[in-house]
Amino acid sequence: MISQLLHINYPSCQSTNLLAENFIDNGNTVCISTDYQTAGRGQTGNSWNSAKKRNLLVSYVLQPDFLAATQQFALTQITSLALLSLLTKHLPDSTIRIKWPNDIYVSDNKIAGILIENRIMQNSIVSSVLGIGLNVNQVRFPKWIPNPTSIRKETRKKHNRETILNELSEEIFRFYKIAQDNISLVHEEYLEKLYQKNSFKFYNFKGEKIEAAITNVDQFGIIYLKTRDNLEIKAAFKEIIFLNHFH
Ligand code: BTN
Repeated sequence: MISQLLHINYPSCQSTNLLAENFIDNGNTVCISTDYQTAGRGQTGNSWNSAKKRNLLVSYVLQPDFLAATQQFALTQITSLALLSLLTKHLPDSTIRIKWPNDIYVSDNKIAGILIENRIMQNSIVSSVLGIGLNVNQVRFPKWIPNPTSIRKETRKKHNRETILNELSEEIFRFYKIAQDNISLVHEEYLEKLYQKNSFKFYNFKGEKIEAAITNVDQFGIIYLKTRDNLEIKAAFKEIIFLNHFH
């Protein structure tokens, strides 16, 4: 079980994921949030840009001792599904999808990003930091961000960030518990909500443009696609790039 959640808010910091490291050893479930990050971290060494006091910038520190090191991808699935479930309270269900491995999309636009950093010892996950950037009230974004959106942009209404944060914590707890009880449920639901599953789209695979359909993602996070002539492609993170209209 997740023990009592300790919630700490900082007006600003470099990165909540970085701050979260200081709370790893005390054994509590901690939620660090901030209004502004000066060095927000994104996937693959990118930065995460977010206007002051507009969005959610959060890191949860967990001790997922029920997961083996080989099951790390379950944390990605738990976090993605928690975000997705929270968003369905505010936006139409059918528009929200998980872009493999862990971006949250509304139609073809990114509304949230996830950065998970685990501490592994032998075959177990000693601690995990689930970093989440969710666009809530920002409506104008820098031009270099390819396809951003936010809850406000989608609903044309301003939202209370504290309410959204409480909803997010509830959903994280809920999916964490589901994973503890029945990990395959989490896997099935993740697959069901996958962006562009079973439809032919263009991708870049190891430097080559291909047309293929996503058929599966396994429990280790490996993605499977099928080309029009039925060739199966298997790719790890970073080996497949989605080629969409904004590229
Ligand atoms: C991505 O590139 O899509 C992942 C973005 C993750 C951003 C969040 S914001 C809170 C936490 N602290 C960070 O520095 N990064 C994550």
